[in-house]
Formats: sequence, C-alpha cells, structure tokens
Amino acid sequence: MPEANPRVGEYVYAAKVRELLKTHGEPPKEVYLDLENSGLVPPEVVEAMLPYFNVRGYGHPSITHKKGWEALEVLYETKEILTKTLGARDVEEVEFTHSGTEANNLAVLGYLFAARGRGRKVIVSAVEHLSVIFPAEFAAKLLGYEVVKVPVDREGFVNPELLKQYVDRETVLVSIQAVNHEIGTVQPLRDLVDVAKSANPNVVFHTDAADALGWIPLNVADLNVDMVTLSSHKIGGPRGVGALYVRDGVRLEPPIRGQLSGERLWPGVENVPIIAGFKRALELEFEDFDWKVSYVKGLRDKLIHGLLDRVPETIVNGPLGEKRVANNANLSFLYVEGEALTVELSMRGVYVSSGSACSSRILEPSHVLLAIGRKHEEAHGSILFKLSRHHKPEDVEYVIESVPEAVSRLRALSSWRSAPSPPS
Ligand SMILES: Cc1ncc(COP(=O)(O)O)c(C=O)c1O
Repeated sequence: MPEANPRVGEYVYAAKVRELLKTHGEPPKEVYLDLENSGLVPPEVVEAMLPYFNVRGYGHPSITHKKGWEALEVLYETKEILTKTLGARDVEEVEFTHSGTEANNLAVLGYLFAARGRGRKVIVSAVEHLSVIFPAEFAAKLLGYEVVKVPVDREGFVNPELLKQYVDRETVLVSIQAVNHEIGTVQPLRDLVDVAKSANPNVVFHTDAADALGWIPLNVADLNVDMVTLSSHKIGGPRGVGALYVRDGVRLEPPIRGQLSGERLWPGVENVPIIAGFKRALELEFEDFDWKVSYVKGLRDKLIHGLLDRVPETIVNGPLGEKRVANNANLSFLYVEGEALTVELSMRGVYVSSGSACSSRILEPSHVLLAIGRKHEEAHGSILFKLSRHHKPEDVEYVIESVPEAVSRLRALSSWRSAPSPPS
C-alpha cells in the first residue's frame, strides 16, 4: 500500500466519504428521485451495452473491418431512431457528442464561431441550463458578441411578445429550452420560434431539449427549430452521450479540434457501448409514450398535492397542470436548508437534490429560482423530485410520509417559528 501523500490529501478524501457512508447506514426503503442529476440505468439498457465492450462492435466505427462495422451499425441504428423521433430529414443531421453539455457548447460556440461578422447579438432565456449560458458568455468575451437574457415570468415562461422586442437585425442566435430542467416549465416553443424568425428571418433557433425528450413531442419541422440538444442519461440511458440535431444548411465551426471520426463536428471516437445503451433507452422510453406520460403525471400530482397537504409553509416552484412536464415536482420548504433536507431524506432512503440540481455542490441559490422571483431563502429551501415510469405509487406514498418527518425535524432544530411570515 503506498503511503498517503499529505500534500495532495491522497486517501484522506475517500476515507472521509467512506466514513460518511458508514454512519449513513442502510435505510428501510430506497426511492431515487434525483433523476435530474443522473440515475439508475435499467437492466435491459445495461444488457444492451455489454456486448459492445468485448463481444461485438468494440472497434472504432470509422475503421473498415468487422468490429468497426458492427460499431457503425449500432451508431447508425441510434441515429435513425433519433432522426425519426425528431422528424429530421437525414441521419447526417444528428451529431453525437459525449454529453448534453458538449452538445450545447457545440450548438452555441459552433454557431457563434461560424456566424462572426453577421451580427453581434445572442439571446438566451434567463432560465437556460448553464451549459448554454456559459458558452454564450464565453463567446461574448472571446468574439465580441452581446448576450441578452430574456426574463421569464413567475412560472418560468418566456413571453413571445417580450421576445419579439429583443430580436433585431443584429441577432444571430436565439437559444431557449423546450422544458426547464428545475421547475418543469414547458415553453411555448413554436410561438417563440415564430416571433424570433418573423422579427429576423436570418436568426438560427437552438433549443436545449435534454429535459423534453421522452416527455413532449419534439418534431423539428413542427417546431421550426434549427438545432436541438439531447442527452442520454435524461431518458434512463447511461451517462456519456449527447446528441445535437443541426438542420441541413446550418453551418457550425467545430469549437474543439482533433481527429474527426464519423461525426463531422465533434472530434474523438464515439462512445459506442454507451450509444448502444442510449438506443435501448430510446426504444423503452417511446414504447408506450402516452401511457407513460399520463402515469407519471399522476404520480407527480399525487406527490405535489400530498406534500402541500402535509407540510405547512410549502410552495411549488414552476407551473401546475398541463404546462408542467410530467416528471417534475419542485417545492420549497420554507425555513429549511435544502442541503440539510437532502441529507435528512437520504437517511430515510429518499434521494433528491436541492436548489439547483446541477450546481448543488456549489452552495449558490439556483439562477432559475431567482429568475422566477424566489428569494434566496426560498431558493435554498427547494427540493427537486424527478419521477419516471419505474416509480410506483407506494414509492410516492413513502416520500409523502418521509418529507414531513424530515422537514419537522429540521424545523424543530431551527427557530423557524420566530422567523418572519412567509409570503402569501
Ligand atoms: C436542460 C439540460 N441541458 C443540458 C444538460 C447537460 O447534460 P449532460 O448532463 O449530459 O451534460 C442538463 C443536465 O442536467 C440539463 O438538465
């Protein structure tokens, strides 16, 4: 066993985590609802991936031998499913990346590199995922673009009339997501595209649909969008593959460089076993789409109303009903620290995330919750629950029992009753 290196703290960090896991123990039941950040990959999906590690298709899909062709076969099968799902014209319009983050970077940076000299304005919504906002800001610094963030209303919607006021002759790119990842708002995408393109027909419209795939129809012709981001692990596939739809005729300049393989715009060999898992996840998620959406919506409403009934001083973040995506429930439990609540719930076997799911290792309040007008303390007390077809009504009942206990315990430890009244 090599000696610990005190300078870099080697072995110390893992030991601390090990200690944490030991004190955590085994809860009586487990319900995993942190699907925003990642989650369990169903056995059928794992099974579909396994042969591609060492039985078939473990070659490079661009190389001309059997193991390469087997890889190429599953790669094209997955692209064909995506092409069909999106109503795209050709498989060549779908590009693999290694994550949704990379697909968003490719869309935003790739287009802004290519569009230099054609205008200087980029419009994003104030509630975009940071993998859209940060590359847009980076392009502003690097290439002199101006980034304009369109505000949203208290439920997270971008008003098409407001967007119209922002789009002008200088605008080259508009990026507005299909569904918000934290508060589940389903944007009126076609209306937004229409106003943007009628204000400036040269505008390219990108939508980050990582949280929309598998939950709402996403036909690129119906929506009239030019670029669409997708991510495998958002639909029960494995982490490590994303895809970008780029309408034929929209030119991007690859923002990262290296040997191009089958992908025209994103260098690096495709992650074939992971792509095989993405394919299987797509097949499963679309098998009985209408049933799934209505089943999960039922679980979502049971969860939201169960918690509102059982936990006083609780508010829902985002819209209710049809304008909220089926799998999302986000509530703020006032006078409770969301981080403390995730730990308390973990002890009961309920796994969720707080504040801003993708940034909860950074204790900043979520920019999405601030954008819809939540105060810092309301944002910090928020918990995001994400459901799937794999959850059962008993799971939701267990969560409805566990959350009030956890919230009461934390509130008893704090002086919440002496805190100022919550907003009406
Ligand atoms: C809306 C949205 N876009 C993009 C991403 C990034 O996808 P990935 O985790 O595959 O990088 C996420 C991830 O949580 C997301 O929620």
